[in-house]
Amino acid sequence: MARRFFIQTYGCQMNANEAGIVRTILESAGYEATRAEADADVLLMMTCSVREHAEQRALGRLAAFRAQKERRGRGTVIGVLGCMAQNLKERLVEEQGADIVVGPDQYRRLPELIEQAAAGVRGLVATELTDECYDTILPRPASPVSALVTVMRGCNNYCTYCIVPYVKGRERSRPPASIIAEIRELAQRGIKEVTLLGQNVLAYRYEGCDFPGLLRQVAEIPGILRVRFLTSHPRDLDERLLECLQELPKVCPSLHLPLQSGSDRVLRLMNRGYTRAEYLQKIDLVRRFLPAAALSTDILVGFPAESEDDFAATLAVVAQVRFDFAYMFRYSPRPGTTAVRITPQVPAQVAGERLSRLINLQNRITRERNEELVGKEVELLVEAEGPAGDGLRARTATNKVVILTGPAQVGELVLATVTQVRGWTPIAKRLKTKEQRANGGERFAAAPCSLFPNLEEG
Ligand code: 5AD
Ligand code: SF4
Repeated sequence: MARRFFIQTYGCQMNANEAGIVRTILESAGYEATRAEADADVLLMMTCSVREHAEQRALGRLAAFRAQKERRGRGTVIGVLGCMAQNLKERLVEEQGADIVVGPDQYRRLPELIEQAAAGVRGLVATELTDECYDTILPRPASPVSALVTVMRGCNNYCTYCIVPYVKGRERSRPPASIIAEIRELAQRGIKEVTLLGQNVLAYRYEGCDFPGLLRQVAEIPGILRVRFLTSHPRDLDERLLECLQELPKVCPSLHLPLQSGSDRVLRLMNRGYTRAEYLQKIDLVRRFLPAAALSTDILVGFPAESEDDFAATLAVVAQVRFDFAYMFRYSPRPGTTAVRITPQVPAQVAGERLSRLINLQNRITRERNEELVGKEVELLVEAEGPAGDGLRARTATNKVVILTGPAQVGELVLATVTQVRGWTPIAKRLKTKEQRANGGERFAAAPCSLFPNLEEG
């Protein structure tokens, strides 16, 4: 009988995609995926190191894996994969009882490492960083409608708080031909929407092809109705990209532009490569080219030396831009990054209090943004049955999740009118006639997902 593996995923959408790559690698080697942890011979976790909290959660789960191994006995293999594997290496074997530790560029070795560990070899750590892009491996999409496609990996920006460049290695782009072939294959399997992923997709470059060039090719693939992309570094956003979005109706008008801070002093300490004024100029540019585009962001609160005035500057930018959605984090010192040497640290209580103030402000704006949709016509891609038999779950072009009432098929693109906002969620009613499409399904503001939501998937 095939050996069964279970994989728990933490962290960003790139991790969700990498878990899909791992599934493909293991299934090709004769392993079988299971959602029931208790049935698995191989217990894996795809981990995140971006904040300490993410590492703590994974370590807690690792304890549960160890308990399960004790129950099942010899031959059970525990593996830590991804950023934490790269970050902590041998320590996960010595202190946490992992059997195999496999960094982001070494997943192809998994079948061989699992075999060795099951045979009793101890301390298997594979963390060499290479230019691996898993080019020939098609990750199994988690949804029948929407798929993630990694177009570039790694990061060269070295923002001073961020561990990503150390654990994911240097920036490198996949050849466009293989990206296109992958998306064609996905379209043939019924996928309607692709999200192009990278730590900074705007830095995509392969020989003569840059990101707008890639978008043009992807938008031509038959069967693909929507194209999204994440994340965009504000510094690299330019008119060429915005022109391209204007020209390509399939490319969703939503941009995720991490602000991090609204204070020039803090932005400099973070090594972000833009000032507050430059960021706001980029926002103006987006609004000029794409007036109905959705804007979302990441914000970091309590960075070392952040004063009350610096924080007030962040609040002011948030109030001015009125993002559709924001991921907001309290700064978490990451050993090995340069920000850990910046003083003084902001006391946890002060940072926590600032974070709540920011969240309160942004929550109000997010709700107001959603309420602006009421009475408007939206184009929705139907993703799944709704929660608790409550209509269907669908998404606007601007990435807002909507509950749709009225008959529709999963994978269908429909026009609907938003009738109300219930809690946070817009409720929409399907329009009766297809002809209404001729009136132009305008695209409305919404909430794109960050590259780093706290995803937890079995
Ligand atoms: N602490 C808190 N948040 C962080 N991020 C990156 N590094 C840290 C850190 N050390 C946030 C940033 C980034 C998002 C992916 O995670 O806001 O945009
Ligand atoms: Fe790279 Fe983003 Fe981390 Fe900056 S915050 S170093 S751009 S991954």
